Amino acid sequence: MVAAAQGKGTADLMRIVVTGAGGQLATDLSLLLTRDAGAAPATLSGWQQLSIDELDLTDAAAVRAVVLDQARAAGGDLVVVNAAAWTDVDGAESREDEAYAVNAAGVAHLAAACATVQARLVHVSTDYVFPGDGHAPYEPDDATGPRSAYGRTKLAGEQAVRALLPAGGYVVRTAWLYGAAGNNFVKTMARLEGERETVDVVDDQHGSPTWSADLAAGLADLVATRPKPGVYHAANAGSTTWYGLARAVFEELGADPHRVRPTTTDAFPRPAPRPAYSVLSTRSWQAAGLRPLRPWREALRLALAQMRGHVPAMAELPGMHAGAGTARGPADRPG
Ligand SMILES: NC(=O)c1ccc[n+]([C@@H]2O[C@H](COP(=O)([O-])OP(=O)(O)OC[C@H]3O[C@@H](n4cnc5c(N)ncnc54)[C@H](OP(=O)(O)O)[C@@H]3O)[C@@H](O)[C@H]2O)c1
Repeated sequence: MVAAAQGKGTADLMRIVVTGAGGQLATDLSLLLTRDAGAAPATLSGWQQLSIDELDLTDAAAVRAVVLDQARAAGGDLVVVNAAAWTDVDGAESREDEAYAVNAAGVAHLAAACATVQARLVHVSTDYVFPGDGHAPYEPDDATGPRSAYGRTKLAGEQAVRALLPAGGYVVRTAWLYGAAGNNFVKTMARLEGERETVDVVDDQHGSPTWSADLAAGLADLVATRPKPGVYHAANAGSTTWYGLARAVFEELGADPHRVRPTTTDAFPRPAPRPAYSVLSTRSWQAAGLRPLRPWREALRLALAQMRGHVPAMAELPGMHAGAGTARGPADRPG
């Protein structure tokens, strides 16, 4: 599973730990590390994914013990990639304390433990920290202003990373994530295409759909490239609305995209308000020498092919080297 380059000194070695195993992003990160470990540009001394049963972020003592253990096993640098989160955006409205325990307090436990052993922490956050009243892609240092409980807890997690781990903390915001693991909007649309004649989907929320496999490759790129710590945006290039994304899913499935009909957020209220516009600018990601993630439409084509069992050509795969009648809105896969 892991390949340490022969003859390298410990200064070159790093161990990667992925939290939230079983989730969309953690699953793709683990696939990437399994596939690419043998040829990784940054030399891995080892890597491990940890499920909630193995590492519950809300348990401060357990978080500290696990990070210390992992640092001892690292034989060099330790990098923790936090893909664990409370991601039920609507549920967080009525259970904000529970969401906060994972997304804010849990992340603070992780950042504090990483600081103790001088580990790097790559923490994944969300476009829902932005208010959504803009019309130009958000830059990392634009003013935040979450509209939902979920967004507030995620913003508090970001602040914990920056305060507790200024020298080794990365906050990587992404958006509208979908992948082969778990339930998500893309999978829901693919299912509804087979079940319904028409589907109404909101056309007044704009964002950056992102394939979790491409994000995983981007995070691996960041780990290997070591840009300066801080906040980054990583999302597939371009933007659309949920309606645009649903139409694209239908097109990819060879179905008539006119069966997807536009509707409005007001017509289908959800417990959690969503930003109307949360497109992420990846300019500073690229300025830091990190490879841009491919256009969202291209990513969707590959993701759907993968979900339908097609084995993509190596050149198409994201990798450390390849560069990486029912109203529907973002409720299916939240934030
Ligand atoms: N999904 C999106 O549309 C989206 C958009 C923007 C940003 N993001 C961010 O991207 C990251 C990855 O999202 P994702 O879609 O991969 O999430 P996901 O599929 O919901 O996976 C989250 C994982 O975290 C685990 N988890 C929950 N509570 C935990 C705890 N207390 N301790 C340890 N693990 C815990 C979950 O375990 P259980 O399944 O057992 O609960 C699950 O395995 C998150 O930070 C999320 O906020 C997601």
